[in-house]
Amino acid sequence: MESSGITFLLLFFANLLVLGASSSQDHNKHFLQCLTEQFEGSNSDPSNVIYTPNDAAYESLLITQNRRPESTFPLRPLLIITPYYEREIIAVIYCSKKLGTQITVRSGGHDYEGLSYTSEVPFVILDMRNFRSISVNTKDRTAWVEVGATLGQLYYTIARHSKTLAFTAGVCPTVGVGGHISGGGYGMMSRKHSLAADHVIDAKVMNVDGQILDRRSMGEDLFWAIRGGGGASFGIVLAFKLELITIPEKVTVFNVSRTQEHNATHLVHRWQYVADKIDDNLLLRLFLRSVKSPVHGNRTIQASFTSLYLGRVHHLLPIMQEKFPELGLVEDDCTEMSWIESILYFAGVRNESLDVLLDRNPARRPYFKGKSDYVRQPIPINALNGIWKFLHEQPEIKAELEASPYGGVLSSYSKSETPFPHRAGNIFMIHYGIAWNNPGKSELESHMNWIRRLYSYMAPYVSKNPRAVYFNYRDLDLGINNEGNTSYKQASVWGLKYFENNFHRLVHVKTKVDPSNFFRNKQSIPPLLSE
Ligand SMILES: Cc1cc2nc3c(=O)[nH]c(=O)nc-3n(C[C@H](O)[C@H](O)[C@H](O)COP(=O)(O)OP(=O)(O)OC[C@H]3O[C@@H](n4cnc5c(N)ncnc54)[C@H](O)[C@@H]3O)c2cc1C
Ligand SMILES: *[C@@H]1O[C@H](CO)[C@@H](O)[C@H](O)[C@H]1NC(C)=O
Ligand SMILES: *[C@@H]1O[C@H](CO)[C@@H](O)[C@H](O)[C@H]1NC(C)=O
Ligand SMILES: *[C@@H]1O[C@H](CO)[C@@H](O)[C@H](O)[C@H]1NC(C)=O
Ligand SMILES: *[C@@H]1O[C@H](CO)[C@@H](O)[C@H](O)[C@H]1NC(C)=O
Ligand SMILES: *[C@@H]1O[C@H](CO)[C@@H](O)[C@H](O)[C@H]1NC(C)=O
Repeated sequence: MESSGITFLLLFFANLLVLGASSSQDHNKHFLQCLTEQFEGSNSDPSNVIYTPNDAAYESLLITQNRRPESTFPLRPLLIITPYYEREIIAVIYCSKKLGTQITVRSGGHDYEGLSYTSEVPFVILDMRNFRSISVNTKDRTAWVEVGATLGQLYYTIARHSKTLAFTAGVCPTVGVGGHISGGGYGMMSRKHSLAADHVIDAKVMNVDGQILDRRSMGEDLFWAIRGGGGASFGIVLAFKLELITIPEKVTVFNVSRTQEHNATHLVHRWQYVADKIDDNLLLRLFLRSVKSPVHGNRTIQASFTSLYLGRVHHLLPIMQEKFPELGLVEDDCTEMSWIESILYFAGVRNESLDVLLDRNPARRPYFKGKSDYVRQPIPINALNGIWKFLHEQPEIKAELEASPYGGVLSSYSKSETPFPHRAGNIFMIHYGIAWNNPGKSELESHMNWIRRLYSYMAPYVSKNPRAVYFNYRDLDLGINNEGNTSYKQASVWGLKYFENNFHRLVHVKTKVDPSNFFRNKQSIPPLLSE
């Protein structure tokens, strides 16, 4: 039975080669047939796992996190596959190889350029949503978490087990563990506890041969690569083992906003001399937007200092008084709460039950483009005024700059300890974001144009040689792999910006674990042999 199925496939594959291109409908049928055959004799139920464009659920599975208008997607996936078992993933790899189809792996679907659910060549989506179990070991202070879990689910589960254990990772609860942790993972505790990837102590990865490896069997090279270099170039990450961190039972939050009428520009300028040096327990994140002034009705800049202190308010106030008195923080601005409540607070959820952290699908988001930069010298006041002009060009709230302070424990890692190189010497990271609702082509172009102009305006004030970029804020403007030509030279243009010299070691690991470049996308690490 098995071997006749394979013979059939081989014949079929030969046929495809002879005919050159087959229609995508045919391709779809063949992939479906291949998978169905692979599932035969197991207790897998294809109707719970495989979704074709004819299934009602296909559409809703596809659109969870569109960053771009769908009209700009070159192709739709042949199938969306939501496996429950490892052997189903092995079958997907098998059929992809046989039919020359690409796989995009999706955990939470938040990729900034949609690389987990779009492609320019025929592809299937391997959606890991059903791999989402979490087991917390409070004695060891560790947790195994499967990649399809969201950060919200992870935080919720840890908090159910303990009041003083936590994990350091991103702010948005619907972000997926798979993409986030393999790409770094910065959050409100990162000055004290560094990145999510810095607390991975073991992992389960399926390689190109369908073998499941743990830290010991994959070796330290691959284990290094998936802690900041992303997963998508190397295999399919199934789970991470995390070292949990210890937090106080009460933390303090505040979100103080000042407009230009209340000296916002000077405060932002001053913040740059404070944010990376202040007490590690304190993270003062800064959001900048153009809003209508309540004073004169014209547009003004609103600076929000959105902050977490890992301790009580009576310890926080003297620190602020000594290091950043200009902000004028008072006790009334501050709220003490548990760490898990602070997760809701920073997610912008007020007075709801913790269960909202288990929602995987946020309301459909508007279209979006983001970019990032690293700042090593304070930006002068006149340049800040130039940024304000860019923000005023856009409708209120649609454009936002986020400044995330570094320093603290982030600086105590060497640049090559993990693939994430943005360590000592960085004051903060800037995230530029623009959101819009209209799917039209001219809207897309004008928003892209705006953010690219801003990015080019910023060049003199940010890191250089390379101009560093955070990998989890993926940006295809930096360069892409042309299909059929993933050259090392071409990839190093963007690779050095994300990873600096760690890029070379990532290429080395890729060459070792996936020399045929089976796991690839527009910005995946190329193997050396393909040069
Ligand atoms: C609203 C929003 C808020 C964010 N907030 C933060 C934040 O506070 N801090 C921060 O650091 N980042 C933040 N990010 C960025 C986020 O960390 C990245 O977009 C991350 O890659 C998303 O992971 P995901 O699993 O949701 O995405 P996906 O789109 O599923 O995956 C992202 C990439 O990883 C690959 N991948 C996913 N799962 C696997 C797997 N199991 N094995 C191999 N490869 C895999 C995908 O193929 C894709 O290339 C935010 C993003 C958004 C959209
Ligand atoms: C604004 O901040 C600057 C720098 O801290 C300070 O010199 C100035 O007096 C402040 N102005 C007002 C109106 O508070
Ligand atoms: C508001 O903006 C208009 C147009 O630029 C300007 O003429 C006016 O003086 C501004 N008003 C205030 C109070 O700043
Ligand atoms: C902080 O305040 C600003 C301005 O009011 C608001 O837009 C933002 O959502 C607030 N952030 C949080 C986390 O509450
Ligand atoms: C949350 O609930 C408390 C108590 O009911 C109330 O005092 C507070 O104003 C509420 N906060 C918000 C933001 O709704
Ligand atoms: C691949 O890209 C490199 C760098 O852009 C270029 O020099 C080379 O000619 C390309 N090779 C092919 C086969 O297109």
